[in-house]
Amino acid sequence: MPVIRGRKVRVLFTAENIARRNAELATEIAAAGYRDLMVLSVLKGSFVFAADLVRALHGAGLSPEVDFMTLSSYGEGTVSSGKISLLKDIESALAGRDVLIVDDILETGRTLAFARDYLLSRGAARVGLAVMLDKSGKRKTAIDPDHVGFICPDYFVVGYGMDAAHAFRELPYVGVIED
Ligand code: IMP
Ligand code: MG
Repeated sequence: MPVIRGRKVRVLFTAENIARRNAELATEIAAAGYRDLMVLSVLKGSFVFAADLVRALHGAGLSPEVDFMTLSSYGEGTVSSGKISLLKDIESALAGRDVLIVDDILETGRTLAFARDYLLSRGAARVGLAVMLDKSGKRKTAIDPDHVGFICPDYFVVGYGMDAAHAFRELPYVGVIED
């Protein structure tokens, strides 16, 4: 078991599993018929997934634009506060565009429900949702992702962009910190 910052990390999804799944997801997204696609990475957690996914999309024959928004629901803790703040806005015009929201993990759904409603209010024509991990047992909103990497067991996970108090984002795999 890897030890990072003196903590044991149990690996749930290896770098190889994730890379293979990203290629499959890209094929699925390419077949979904998005037009004039804008990939919108929700910072900070999705930065690693989005970086790999857009390159996989290139491999699947797509040429998306990429933009970012920063949303926050957690603060420093590991339980969602339920209140979403927009910390950094999108720079591109969205009217009439097909937008694919890319996020690390869908839990209560509050973050992505907020993002989807916000994009629609900015005039997006179609909003798709791609998440690497789906903790479907924790859902508190009626939101259904269009593209899912893996179903995630109900643990607080870190790595592959996801953090615990800003640490562990650099891990190339997804894991759980064992106490
Ligand atoms: P939701 O609004 O409850 O769906 O929360 C989704 C957001 O919370 C994700 O975009 C992540 O940034 C964060 N999050 C949820 N679960 C985890 C986790 O297990 N590890 C790290 N971040 C998480
Ligand atoms: Mg997030």
